Amino acid sequence: MKSSFAVVFAFLLPIIGAQVPHWGPCPEPSVQPAFNLKQFMGRWFEIAKLPAQFEKGQCIENNFTLTTENSFRVASAEVLKGEIRKLDGTGVVEDPKHPAKLGVSYSYVLPFSPYWILSTDYVNYAVVYSCTDILRLFHVDFAWIMGRTRSLPDATVWKAKDAFVKNNIDVSRMIITKQQGCDKRIESDI
Ligand SMILES: *[C@@H]1O[C@H](CO)[C@@H](O)[C@H](O)[C@H]1NC(C)=O
Repeated sequence: MKSSFAVVFAFLLPIIGAQVPHWGPCPEPSVQPAFNLKQFMGRWFEIAKLPAQFEKGQCIENNFTLTTENSFRVASAEVLKGEIRKLDGTGVVEDPKHPAKLGVSYSYVLPFSPYWILSTDYVNYAVVYSCTDILRLFHVDFAWIMGRTRSLPDATVWKAKDAFVKNNIDVSRMIITKQQGCDKRIESDI
């Protein structure tokens, strides 16, 4: 018992380190009705996120590609300290009854983490939430607003934030991801 407890904590430490845990189990937010995975595929830029990490990547983007009806690949990239870093992951619809409740993993050894699409219009914005229970005592969560373009009109960002707020998810500490000068930087690096 004691040792499995230690293993659990060693495994979770990096997650906990990045975010302040909240007491109690994960919330049960409402998700995008009749979610269409195929329409969600393609390129998304990160507009804003929780938690506010100290090491801030810029120009964060994700390219989603359908692999089967219920699974996809995700190619992610960010610019950190002037260097492009890339990461490939896989994703699934874990239960076809809940198509908006995706799971994403960036490693063979890690299980799928929740990647729930709370709201999207597919062509402008997407609101994504990931929450993990820890021993049912507390939870850590991640939240993203994504856009089809590197910036979104303020009104769209407010609407996206509202999808969190109405589900009692606190996004007051959400930070805007820097997306300025990205195309120029990436082109000049090639
Ligand atoms: C995503 O796709 C676009 C367009 O094909 C490409 O320019 C970009 O480099 C891709 N990004 C990643 C992270 O693969």
